[in-house]
Amino acid sequence: MNTIATTTATARHGFDSLEQETRIAALPVQGELPAWLHGSLIRTGPAKWEVGERTMNHWFDGLAMLHRFSFADQAVSYANRFLESRAYRAARDQGQISYMEFATDPCRSLFQRVSSMFSPQLSDNANVNLVKLGEQFIAMTETPIPVQFDADTLAAGGVAYTPPGHLTTAHPHLDRTNKGMLNYAAKLGPRSSYRFFSLAPGGDSPKVIGSMPVREPAYMHSFGLTPQWLVLAEFPYVVNPLRLAFGGRPYIENYRWKPELGTRFHLFNRADGRVVGPFETDPRFAFHHVNSYEDGDDVVVDICTFADATIIEDLYLERLRDGKPIAPAHLERFRLSPGAGSVTSERLIDEPIELPRINYFRCNEHPYRYVWGVASGSGWIDRIVKGDVVTRQSSVWSEEGCFPGEPVFVAAPGAEDEDHGVLLSVVFDGRSGRSFLLVLDARSLDEVARAEVPHQIPFGFHGQFTR
Ligand code: CO
Repeated sequence: MNTIATTTATARHGFDSLEQETRIAALPVQGELPAWLHGSLIRTGPAKWEVGERTMNHWFDGLAMLHRFSFADQAVSYANRFLESRAYRAARDQGQISYMEFATDPCRSLFQRVSSMFSPQLSDNANVNLVKLGEQFIAMTETPIPVQFDADTLAAGGVAYTPPGHLTTAHPHLDRTNKGMLNYAAKLGPRSSYRFFSLAPGGDSPKVIGSMPVREPAYMHSFGLTPQWLVLAEFPYVVNPLRLAFGGRPYIENYRWKPELGTRFHLFNRADGRVVGPFETDPRFAFHHVNSYEDGDDVVVDICTFADATIIEDLYLERLRDGKPIAPAHLERFRLSPGAGSVTSERLIDEPIELPRINYFRCNEHPYRYVWGVASGSGWIDRIVKGDVVTRQSSVWSEEGCFPGEPVFVAAPGAEDEDHGVLLSVVFDGRSGRSFLLVLDARSLDEVARAEVPHQIPFGFHGQFTR
């Protein structure tokens, strides 16, 4: 069996109906779930790319669906539900794409186009990530319209808060000082700026920590954090805000790869917003910071980097459905030295890795040893990778015909070792045409258990485990 073709035919095909909703009290489990595993893995991701007569263009465009696996007493239940954003409701009720997605434009008049970029016509299709802030669950994408939802019913609520800018990231960091969150926003206009902001749990008014003017903002998917610094990595995939507003192209098609700009790091002081930098190095592209920490005066910044931004092109549905391979990312360490104003870089492990996760609550902002992620060997994501950034070694889980998603690390209660816990990954099985939730021992990558879902789950991006 050609597994890539199988994947192409099914897992990148979304659900048939916009009414799709599933609730299963107990999934069949092979193996034995850890007795300590209590809580829920909630994930978001694109689940439907066809609306009316149209097909969206890019993997990142699909209408968001929430998936919840709940663990208790060595059993697991499953539920899914489309995120009832206004983008979803318009698609369901009017049968057309009404909001601008990552690489797909709605059909609209020139006047509507011109007014759309800086207006509330932005999509709230929060298919990238989610966060629990206080007692509130929030689904997020890169438009400034984070959507609250109920973790039990998966029903969407209102807009959680309004970031101070036109673009943001779906990868906020935990603010350990108050259990709030820290995030990035880009303000666009005649005078654009990069900003960082904080939001207290239960709060709805973000506070700007620091700001920096920029003429052509870079595409920003995540950022780094240390006890003292917010770390902004500015890759040379940039946009002229006027083109974004008036260019008449879908959002991401307004960005340009300008390698001559190189990669520029900026450190924003968390206490007073003062910006140190830039630290300049060769051009790269990345979605995901892995971790950052301080080493004396230096700041160490680990990122899954690509050689350039062709990965964006690789993820257009037409290319994916043709089985074209996707570019690999590698774990790269940048060391910023504020005294010298210099930056050095080195590749940490040989095995490619993307959708990286760490033992976040223990290690983020601090030196760490382990990272887990996925990689593609056959052209599409087909393995789970564990990297050891101390020994520079890696190990791999894979199974014939299987295509895993982001592995979410869940620490065992009272664990002493950084990697004592399990990984939870939603895997598409090209042999059965269905997906299963895979539970791996995070130390050995040995299988602990799997729970089969009676349908396929389209490949998604990120999820969180909450107790
Ligand atoms: Co991401």
